Amino acid sequence: MNIAILSKGAANYTTKRLKEVAKERGHDVRVINYAKCYVAIEKDKPVIRYKGESLEKFDAIIPRIAQSYTKYGTAVARQFESQGSYTTASSIAINRSRDKLRAYQVLAKAGVAIPKTVFARETASFDDVIALAGGTPLIIKVARGTHGNGVVLAETPKAAKAVMQAFYVEGVNFLVQEFIRESAGEDIRALVVGSRVVAAVKRQSLDGDFRSNTHQGGQGVPIRLTDEERKTAIKAAKAMGLPICGVDMMRSERGPLVLEVNSSASIMTPEKITGRNVAEKIIEYVEQNAKRRPKKDKIGA
Ligand SMILES: Nc1ncnc2c1ncn2[C@@H]1O[C@H](COP(=O)(O)OP(=O)(O)O)[C@@H](O)[C@H]1O
Ligand SMILES: [Mg+2]
Repeated sequence: MNIAILSKGAANYTTKRLKEVAKERGHDVRVINYAKCYVAIEKDKPVIRYKGESLEKFDAIIPRIAQSYTKYGTAVARQFESQGSYTTASSIAINRSRDKLRAYQVLAKAGVAIPKTVFARETASFDDVIALAGGTPLIIKVARGTHGNGVVLAETPKAAKAVMQAFYVEGVNFLVQEFIRESAGEDIRALVVGSRVVAAVKRQSLDGDFRSNTHQGGQGVPIRLTDEERKTAIKAAKAMGLPICGVDMMRSERGPLVLEVNSSASIMTPEKITGRNVAEKIIEYVEQNAKRRPKKDKIGA
């Protein structure tokens, strides 16, 4: 099979592993820096150019689009899709997952449990917004944040108002969310491939931060998921239309709550910590699915 990994970081662990395993399994595989692709759009014959060369149709693409390149990256991925390449993450699904508000709306509609979440504008009543999120302490999240940047814990109504006002002034979209205090500083990352969880890690902050992102100094340990957690992760992946993804959940008193679904989750910590060959599971999934007609994304949000 002819596979393209769309990635800006050829030296990135996940990209390297996917390439290595695809090669081992006899595929022609290329890492393509989507940020350097350009597209000539014309009726019936769009051309994707890369370093002065026209890219022929690939059997499958594996998009690994960085958050900061979402718009350009998904536009390039869409062009590959329109050539008929199978994709492990449709451009629509990537965009859907990158907007936290939209993602929570989709998850909630599909019946996936999420923390109580409120979104509002400056015209809304601060006190009511705070009450709807369950009172302080509460979490305020930038709609397009990542790696824990843009997630704030407001301990008091005063602090919450000040943060919201600051975001309003800057024109930043945000969400107000119930603080899951029973597992503050801890979350679970479940790597989903198809309809299975292939690895799961618990991430724990080491320095007392309420955020457990590894980019914020969080550490990962292997974990056994409960049936409910496994089902929740798979349901979240399905709802988002992302067959290969990392689902972040928190263990709450009322069961697992999904925080986010990541379309280009790193496999480094899961592979190193659990010893599972996640890259192989992904390439196997591509082999099994790329030959079929690509399914249209039916969610439409
Ligand atoms: N509602 C919440 N209650 C408690 N902790 C939270 C809550 N939401 C997020 N966190 C913590 O903050 C981290 C980052 O939040 P997340 O929504 O995943 O944003 P990001 O996209 O920046 O990773 C989570 O991994 C978790 O540890
Ligand atoms: Mg996160």
